[in-house]
Amino acid sequence: MIQAEEFTGKVVLVTGASQGIGLEICRQFSDLGAKVIMVARNIEKLEKAKDTIEHNSNAYTYSCDLSVNSEIEKLFGFVKEKFQRIDVLVNNLGAFSEKKDWNVIDYDLWIKTFETNVLSAYFCMVKAAEIMVGNKTKGVIINVGSSSALQVKKGRLNYTVSKSALHTMSRVTAMDLARHQIRVNVVSPGPTATEIVEERMKDPEQWAEEEIRLKKIPLGSYASTTDIANAVVFLSSSKAKFITGAILPVDGGYTIGETV
Ligand SMILES: NC(=O)c1ccc[n+]([C@@H]2O[C@H](COP(=O)([O-])OP(=O)(O)OC[C@H]3O[C@@H](n4cnc5c(N)ncnc54)[C@H](OP(=O)(O)O)[C@@H]3O)[C@@H](O)[C@H]2O)c1
Repeated sequence: MIQAEEFTGKVVLVTGASQGIGLEICRQFSDLGAKVIMVARNIEKLEKAKDTIEHNSNAYTYSCDLSVNSEIEKLFGFVKEKFQRIDVLVNNLGAFSEKKDWNVIDYDLWIKTFETNVLSAYFCMVKAAEIMVGNKTKGVIINVGSSSALQVKKGRLNYTVSKSALHTMSRVTAMDLARHQIRVNVVSPGPTATEIVEERMKDPEQWAEEEIRLKKIPLGSYASTTDIANAVVFLSSSKAKFITGAILPVDGGYTIGETV
């Protein structure tokens, strides 16, 4: 079991924190006594999300667009000024891109998807590592990837390639940061029952699509946001102190292979 003291006083920054997986990650770290910086664009949504966290006296909201490098610079300026440290960075932000045939060239979509899913994580890692190395903190970086990078699907080329890039970038960075005792790992969710996914399932057409996907999950259900956050907290804890460069699928066996 992870002891509460383990995260007491530690500073944890979570991107994409106002809903879904990101919010649950914030909730778990807050319950374990960490100071949690919740980052997303819409401040009202962030504040509302913070209100749903029971132990929120050490939760802080920060609004910025993480696809813009200068905004990331300002974010880490704020972290440095207010907390002087960072112990855990969770790059949870990831935008799903619309379905398109692979040969329909959409340059803007490529750029947007890479800025949001890859470059934002890269710049956040650089800035967080700068503070960690400066403080000699044995910090942790968790990047939230996707089962799409492990078992590819038709029609989501931009998203799939961006998540594959995130997985590989995490392993390269793990190699670079190991000499500073900073660990970098990936949590790779399969289909997860976030509010958005549950909302989608109310539409009969979407439900039919989801039903097919459900049959492909050996453990027979979608992940809960708690399942994903559990893995993030575990990899951030000292229980995982010798794990770096790992890609941990949390997908009920979805990426093992065919179910029939
Ligand atoms: N849900 C799934 O089934 C599933 C499966 C596999 C992998 N994943 C991965 O898990 C992660 C979380 O997924 P989720 O479904 O929980 O996410 P989500 O519900 O789509 O939430 C996205 C979050 O990111 C914020 N955000 C979006 N664009 C941003 C930007 N440019 N700058 C700053 N914040 C931004 C959103 O708030 P604002 O709009 O206010 O900015 C929101 O808080 C993602 O990396 C996703 O790819 C999810």
